[in-house]
Amino acid sequence: MRNIYIVGFMGTGKTSISKALAEDLGLNYISMDNVIEERENRTINDIFAEEGEEYFRSLEREVLEEIAGNEGQVVDTGGGVVLDEENVKNMKNSGTVICLWSDPGTIRKHTQKHGHRPLLNVENPEERIQELIECRRPFYVKASDFHIDTSGGEKKIILGRIKDCLSGGEE
Ligand code: S3P
Repeated sequence: MRNIYIVGFMGTGKTSISKALAEDLGLNYISMDNVIEERENRTINDIFAEEGEEYFRSLEREVLEEIAGNEGQVVDTGGGVVLDEENVKNMKNSGTVICLWSDPGTIRKHTQKHGHRPLLNVENPEERIQELIECRRPFYVKASDFHIDTSGGEKKIILGRIKDCLSGGEE
């Protein structure tokens, strides 16, 4: 069984959807950010603050390469995983890539409750979200086999759409 990679911007529902999908399909759930935090024994915030983003990206690359060597997993990726060409190759070669998409307002709502995202711990997160979305949009498009809008969507309906995609249904 090939892997299913859930990619998408921060706050689009990757974690909640990945867990539910894994349970529904009887696959293993794996969170890249959790693996990185466990391995480093510190939070993503601390890794960014103490080592910088480049260091985090190299860990991300390493962890994805390992994950791609296993099968039958729903992989909850970090929002920036698509920025690296090697990561995209590894995901495409070992599974199906599903991108979750939301409008900036929904993303802001979902991310403002938590402070664990270093890239959004800035003075004007709304502006930052807009900038990052614009810059990353082509990467999500290129990396993904399917795109699902999760704004305001019920989890059950979103899961149904993902399963349609996986079974060769409509995009
Ligand atoms: C990042 C997203 C985060 C985490 C890190 C960097 C990004 O994961 O990997 O803070 O570059 O978009 P989530 O998308 O799960 O928040």
